[in-house]
Amino acid sequence: MVKVIAILNQKGGVGKTTIAANIGVSIAKRGHKVLMVDSDPQGSLRDWREATGEGEGLSVIGLDRDTLAKEIDEIKKAYDFVILDGRAKAEKMAGASIRVADLVLIPVAPSALDIWGASDLTEAIAARHEVTEGKPHAFFVINSATKNTKLIEEVKPAAEQTGFKTLNNVLHAREVYKQTMGEGLSVHSGKNPAALEEIENLTTEIMEILNHAK
Ligand SMILES: Nc1ncnc2c1ncn2[C@@H]1O[C@H](COP(=O)(O)OP(=O)(O)OP(=O)(O)O)[C@@H](O)[C@H]1O
Ligand SMILES: [Mg+2]
Repeated sequence: MVKVIAILNQKGGVGKTTIAANIGVSIAKRGHKVLMVDSDPQGSLRDWREATGEGEGLSVIGLDRDTLAKEIDEIKKAYDFVILDGRAKAEKMAGASIRVADLVLIPVAPSALDIWGASDLTEAIAARHEVTEGKPHAFFVINSATKNTKLIEEVKPAAEQTGFKTLNNVLHAREVYKQTMGEGLSVHSGKNPAALEEIENLTTEIMEILNHAK
């Protein structure tokens, strides 16, 4: 069965496209067929795909909110994983994504303000749970963390107040994310073993959640 992962946050610049591309490559490297869906009219993911003409070998398509549910149904027959790169300030798109997703990831900076700032999204997911018995699963992903682990620990209770947890694996602020994304690549092609390790660990955690999902 295909699994749909939606990476959503109404706030811009939190790392949605960066996380989508990097975990997409990780999952594909594990032997799965991955389709990346760009819901951004700026087409950041499509630009990334075209930067090298490769996009690390992933297929990337664009879909809008009106066609999302119908087209995903068709497309997903050919793939093991579909990764939706959400866009900022697009409530209806987020609603359509929540309905098709098995797992929603909400990238946030390690700050309680960012967690609270995502309340429109967490409330929409909670409302969806009332009719679906818990689908989609949803977690915050802490991105651009510094070595200040105290800050990360402080964020967790803020997350839990919203009813959602943070994933255990955290992504740190590293130039290699900017650099590889700008070249149409991922940390798999970069020279930073720590970045590769954190992306691999995050991907493993995500796959485990999906394996246990109904
Ligand atoms: N962990 C990180 N370390 C360093 N730079 C990062 C990290 N994550 C993201 N960035 C950089 O931050 C900027 C915003 O990231 P990205 O484009 O992935 O965010 P986004 O949520 O998709 O933004 P938008 O809402 O505009 O689509 C980019 O320049 C990206 O390279
Ligand atoms: Mg983006």
